[in-house]
Amino acid sequence: MKILVINGSPRGKQSNTWQLSMSFLAGMRESGETIETHELSVNRLDIHPCLGCFSCWSKTPGQCCIADDMGQVIERLLWADVTIWSFPLYYFSVPGPLKNLIDRQLPMVLPFMTEDGGETGSGSHPARYDMSGKRTVVISTCGFHTAEGNYDGVCSLFDHICGKGNYTTLFCGQGELFRMSDVKQRTDEYLGYVRQAGREYMSGGITGETSAALSQSLFPRKVFETWADASWGVDKDSGERESDTLIFTRQMAALYRQESWPGHDLVLEMAYTDVNERYQIVLEKTGSRTLTDDFLPATTTIKTPVTVWRAIAAGEINGSEALMQHQYRVDGDFDLLLNWDNYFAGTGNTAAPKEEKTPDPSGELHVPSKATSLNILLIPWIVFWAGASIHSFWGSLASLAACVLVPLVFYRNRKTFYDVLSAGLVTCFSVAALLGASIRWIVPLAYLTFGIMWTVSCFCKIPLTAHYSMNDYDGESALSNPLFMKTNRILTLAWGILYLLTPIWTYFILGTGIGGWIGAINSILPLLMGAFTAWFQKWYPARVARG
Ligand SMILES: Cc1cc2nc3c(=O)[nH]c(=O)nc-3n(C[C@H](O)[C@H](O)[C@H](O)COP(=O)(O)O)c2cc1C
Repeated sequence: MKILVINGSPRGKQSNTWQLSMSFLAGMRESGETIETHELSVNRLDIHPCLGCFSCWSKTPGQCCIADDMGQVIERLLWADVTIWSFPLYYFSVPGPLKNLIDRQLPMVLPFMTEDGGETGSGSHPARYDMSGKRTVVISTCGFHTAEGNYDGVCSLFDHICGKGNYTTLFCGQGELFRMSDVKQRTDEYLGYVRQAGREYMSGGITGETSAALSQSLFPRKVFETWADASWGVDKDSGERESDTLIFTRQMAALYRQESWPGHDLVLEMAYTDVNERYQIVLEKTGSRTLTDDFLPATTTIKTPVTVWRAIAAGEINGSEALMQHQYRVDGDFDLLLNWDNYFAGTGNTAAPKEEKTPDPSGELHVPSKATSLNILLIPWIVFWAGASIHSFWGSLASLAACVLVPLVFYRNRKTFYDVLSAGLVTCFSVAALLGASIRWIVPLAYLTFGIMWTVSCFCKIPLTAHYSMNDYDGESALSNPLFMKTNRILTLAWGILYLLTPIWTYFILGTGIGGWIGAINSILPLLMGAFTAWFQKWYPARVARG
């Protein structure tokens, strides 16, 4: 299949729209069909405006009297099976040079008056060449928050050229975001859908699901417009130019998701150490504002060279790695940083709902995995420890039942390797107890096994607690956060040691008259350990952040 892509943006390959067109083309290539492409950039072609002399209709039929690059464009239009028109919206229409190119297609039609198939009722001219079977795709970005209502002129133009419904459109608002690295995550997600559309186009047509994803705004209108206003870098009141650092801070503030407001205002102070500037972003219920003076007491202060923070925002360096390398410091409440992706859109978590299927930039569908639950791992053990020490037969039977029922009760949760291993181990201990094994030995042995499982996992790639605590930290992406992993490794080891020691006193207590209470006795230390875990999870990253 021969595909011609006409780039009508004066920006050439720096065009926002070009990114969409290239993603669409990449999707088409993935269809498996042999594809031959040719690109024409209007800004590199010498195409003069039509003179309106009609010599291409009468004196030299099919031949324009102007000798410029339009001849090769017509050749290519006749060559292509699919033509992709890629351009920005200019004044609700196509850019001027592209309009020249469109006008200069006059030699491609005959002068006679004909019907246009009754579609527009406006009259038409018959094609000079056989254009049957040729297909058209129109891809465009525009600067306003939505494409809706902006493309009436463009659609009317292509309705007349191709016939209503005879071409495919892909129009996208907020086009300028495609050149901004700090919202790359969201634009890449969108480009993933464009790529998918390219693939689907080749196999029968773009599906309703993909079209719906493409018609979603990149960001909510308010976020985009605040961001866009900030990007011009001039003060709204004075019209004076602002510092690059302030523009950057304002753009960051614009990405605040007010639905993440925690019930009280937060003050994020950005202290840029290399340029000696500081600003505050106040995160309020109704939105955010940037302070340049009259500062408030800061909830969280980030002390960073602006170069480092820019690189983090652009996804060029990993924020938590940079933190561990002390490239920046955080003072005050560390929670804001831990939940950064919830507070600011497009930087990590995107506007896309978590449970939805989203294509990654390569166009592959990615289904976010279900949450895990530590209860699936813990309940069978707890039932066995407590139950078997009270009554060896009924307690062991109860723990066997727990092994079967818990996965059913938690059917919505993803099961980890440790959940399965635990169910297997508890089953073995319960069966041993049912067969008459000594409770005084089997219960401490179960604690010891539990302790070994935790301690050994500490030396594995993903420590045990990380499988579960990642639910609170943006799912599996937390696993690539070195600070999160280190915190969890320490915690897993602490819990592992506790359970390696527990069998010692358990053995002795089981030999006394209060052996039946061992389940209750042995829950005191884990309760304290739970409190320690909750504290440590916040304290340790904050300690690293303070440098
Ligand atoms: C002269 C001019 C006119 C524009 N007119 C519109 C317009 O009518 N509606 C709109 O939403 N955006 C308008 N824009 C914004 C562009 O469509 C937008 O920035 C687009 O993403 C640029 O795409 P490109 O990088 O592919 O050239 C205009 C931009 C320029 C420079």
